[in-house]
Amino acid sequence: MRPHVLPHTDVALPALGVLVSGRGSNLAAILHAVETGELCARVGLVISSRPDAPALEIAMAHSVPTRVIAPKEYASRAEAGAAIVAALRGVGVALVVLAGYKPILDACVIQAYPHRILNIHPSLLPAFAGGMAPRPQTEALAAGVKLSGCTVHFVTEDVDAGPIIAQAAVPVRDDDTVESLSARILAQEHQLFSQAIALVLAGNARVEGRRVIIQR
Ligand code: GRF
Repeated sequence: MRPHVLPHTDVALPALGVLVSGRGSNLAAILHAVETGELCARVGLVISSRPDAPALEIAMAHSVPTRVIAPKEYASRAEAGAAIVAALRGVGVALVVLAGYKPILDACVIQAYPHRILNIHPSLLPAFAGGMAPRPQTEALAAGVKLSGCTVHFVTEDVDAGPIIAQAAVPVRDDDTVESLSARILAQEHQLFSQAIALVLAGNARVEGRRVIIQR
């Protein structure tokens, strides 16, 4: 039987550089979308800010090259940022994807990839910006909102404030816990992120000021 060839080495496809810090479920969803052909791209490199991130094991299981760039091992955030840019450029990354990446990116990374870095946030931005999961979900429950969801946006130097590419809403139920609401949002994240990546890679998401105009 021929071994199943994973598409991540196909240099004809645009390369994604995925930055992670933790669990890696969004990374897994992106890898799945690539491998099923839903997303015409390859994952060229996964960079983790932590050596113990489970996301690294997911990348390795899919034969994707990995790097650990832990900010605390660099003299400054700028030096860690320069290492990230060098690693991304080394594999010719077309688009950078933050999939549960915790550190604030240094401005040098954002300037190296203007409107080429995407983040996913577990709230309907601009509500409940800032903070990593489960803070946005906890704040949404505490605020009593009836709808929450997730947002994919371009990364700018203002945290969680870049132009919004796509959003998906979910209901907040009376008996929700942080865990149940987070799970409902996460299921949407796993669909929305790959769709937004595909839109940007295809050149179908044009930034006009704070708005992103989608061509379908
Ligand atoms: C997700 O909730 C995402 O919205 C947020 O961090 C979490 C990452 O989860 N930015 P995972 O590591 O992709 O499972």
